[in-house]
Amino acid sequence: MIYPKTVYIHTIGCQMNVYDSERIAGGLTHIGYRLVSEPESADLVILNTCAIREKAEQKVFSFLGRMAGLKRKNPEMIIGVGGCVAQQEGRKILDRAPYLDLVFGTHAVSRLPILVQQVETSGGRLVDVAISDVIQETPVYSVSSVSEQTSRFVTIMQGCDNYCTYCVVPYVRGREMSRSPERILSEIQALVDSGIREVTLLGQNVNSYGKKEGLCDFSELLTRVNGIEGLLRIRFTTSHPKDLSSDLIATFNRLNKLCKHIHLPVQSGSTRILSRMNRKYSRDQYLEKIARLRDACPDIAITSDIIVGFPGETAEDFEETLSLIRQVAYDDLFAFMYSDRPNAPAAHFMKKISETEKAERLQQVLGLQETLTYEKNQSLVNSHQVVLVEGVNQRMNTSEAFRETTPQWYGRTPGHKIVHFPEPARLSGSGNIGSLKTIRIEKAFSHSLWGRPVSEEG
Ligand code: 5AD
Ligand code: SF4
Repeated sequence: MIYPKTVYIHTIGCQMNVYDSERIAGGLTHIGYRLVSEPESADLVILNTCAIREKAEQKVFSFLGRMAGLKRKNPEMIIGVGGCVAQQEGRKILDRAPYLDLVFGTHAVSRLPILVQQVETSGGRLVDVAISDVIQETPVYSVSSVSEQTSRFVTIMQGCDNYCTYCVVPYVRGREMSRSPERILSEIQALVDSGIREVTLLGQNVNSYGKKEGLCDFSELLTRVNGIEGLLRIRFTTSHPKDLSSDLIATFNRLNKLCKHIHLPVQSGSTRILSRMNRKYSRDQYLEKIARLRDACPDIAITSDIIVGFPGETAEDFEETLSLIRQVAYDDLFAFMYSDRPNAPAAHFMKKISETEKAERLQQVLGLQETLTYEKNQSLVNSHQVVLVEGVNQRMNTSEAFRETTPQWYGRTPGHKIVHFPEPARLSGSGNIGSLKTIRIEKAFSHSLWGRPVSEEG
């Protein structure tokens, strides 16, 4: 072909899917594809899917419906579906979407370039949903497509062995497996060499990193990542509360690059529901971990996930969730209405909660958290926050708070809160992006902070 073929990649779902899409992009670039931002003109469309809740799954089929229209206009277009729905449904998606060329599962990302080449040459409809018991690494080139970013995700482990009763992950991502520290470190080094300043290490339960394989443990991995020159910040997600160790708690004070933020999903405040969810901790045990975290690190930001309307959740159980949220006073929360998943045991649990009730409970959680977040943000007024600068708002903001010198830069605190600050371009040029700046917070809003730089750092 004279001109490079083009690929449009659409990602639904969690950070792990974002990471997998980067690997997909790297592999396809390697075989001659150029990334485009619209599907209309693409020779190849890849949809990376999520199965965590029914809503995410519905998005898959509405996106595919749109692609069917494009394929009618351009019959040469190749359409592939990957990720968790691909893994869950396999060949069945081909029946449901007759215009689809390729279905590839969560363990087939490294094989995608070959699969695409097969479809290009033979034109057949392919399915690869094999689950492997060894990590399927992608070559190093797959991390090369860094553009103007400061922060990237790096998966350190795949799969999950925890089998929470509501969750589809163990069925669609397979058993828990950890990548070797050497691979992880060289990937991060490559990212840093191409300008990345912050990495978020990803796993379903990072606390059990390396245990099965007898690799180094997670604290040791963090220590080694902390040693990478040029890297400014480290984050990680997710920690299962049952496995949060004293060792990991201690790393927050020990490692200078590790952001003082932990995402510690509680899911419910009721011990009875936690046990039905197979979470393996009680309300009190969870609260005890929070106390230990705050003891060791009083300014740590804590965020969480909540599921409302799990089968059998009574008004009293739900009240316990609200009271736990109040007691912990999270910095932020992700809250979801419980959704039956085909493979997950809770799909067969009795005493389902109505959609109306779930929606009502969700609103209560979100309303409560909104107040707590606002109060947290207010408490940061007058504090100094070190922000990793991510970008600049070109658009002039005319609200009272922002009527200041432009441009308005933005970045995040260690606790992941967005901070906007003004600084004339003559002082910083574009050199702010990717650097650490200390900002004195002057104003706090529901979803962001605003302040002024006090000194240059990093
Ligand atoms: N229904 C609703 N929320 C779910 N989650 C996982 N499975 C389900 C489900 N079946 C939520 C949990 C998890 C987050 C990633 O998604 O809160 O921590
Ligand atoms: Fe799902 Fe539980 Fe594993 Fe998290 S720990 S991925 S909620 S099974």
